[in-house]
Amino acid sequence: MMSSGEFYMLHRGLVLPKETHSSESLKFAQEFTFKDDDVVAVTYPKAGTIWMQEILPLVLNGGDLTPIQTIPNWDRVPWLEEKRLAVIVDQLASPRAFVTHFPYHLMPTSFYTSKAKVIYVMRNPKDIMVSSYYFHQMAAFLEDPGTFDEFMEKFLEGRVLFGKWTDHVKSWRHTELGDRIMYITYEDMVQDLPAALRHISNFLGRNLSEEAIQKIAEHCSFKSMKANNMSNFSLVPKVYMDPNKSPFFRKGIAGDWKNHFSSEQLARFTSVICKEMEGESFSLPWSLD
Ligand code: A3P
Repeated sequence: MMSSGEFYMLHRGLVLPKETHSSESLKFAQEFTFKDDDVVAVTYPKAGTIWMQEILPLVLNGGDLTPIQTIPNWDRVPWLEEKRLAVIVDQLASPRAFVTHFPYHLMPTSFYTSKAKVIYVMRNPKDIMVSSYYFHQMAAFLEDPGTFDEFMEKFLEGRVLFGKWTDHVKSWRHTELGDRIMYITYEDMVQDLPAALRHISNFLGRNLSEEAIQKIAEHCSFKSMKANNMSNFSLVPKVYMDPNKSPFFRKGIAGDWKNHFSSEQLARFTSVICKEMEGESFSLPWSLD
């Protein structure tokens, strides 16, 4: 059994995988210069990051499929904090799109003063936890999650990638970004993707035709993305990500937690999250039980 130090590094209190992050990549992120027409999708891990890597280029270009058919998701809409950014940043054409798992206060200095727009994607934390549990089983660069019970404790205590879910949500709810930020939920996207795409497109000043919206929705469906080799991680060697253990495009639904949580686990999870949310000025968009 390897110790977590072999898998993870600490960055300003956050646990990050060494496979994809380094002190150089984090320095590069910190010094990164945002442009006013950049767009960044912010997600806690497993809230719909890869989905946004498919959606953003298509919304920005009006539905031209070239980027999703020719560029792997990690180079198409790179993570701000990962090693890959420095390698491919010069190839990105404006308007550029990024993803990040950073909490608000870890964003680079240039971000706060730029006019870059932000889309914060929230997902029910119970489904995030289930998705993450399976992801830790298939990704060889992440520590074995242990039992579901053990992983739940780690999740609730924030001893997981990018820290506590509640801290992440709170940080992005208390910003000075005004109309530079929009909030959307994974659940809304599952329920009505064309409506979510209209919302995103209006926010980005794109006003796409209904035909373009329908085309983008079709190519960003779970089924299409699962079959897209530029997005389904089939380009990654199986020793790093093994779809036989659990596919990256696993279920793509809201409410899979109901198939995993016992009533005791549900009670414990709900009480911890509710306690963390006490006194907050915003409420969560889902009921937690
Ligand atoms: P599940 O494991 O619940 O299926 P991230 O990209 O942030 O790592 O999140 C991964 C989760 O998003 C997985 O959830 C994955 O199936 C889901 N997902 C990705 N693309 C999706 C799509 N087009 N529709 C619905 N869910 C999608």
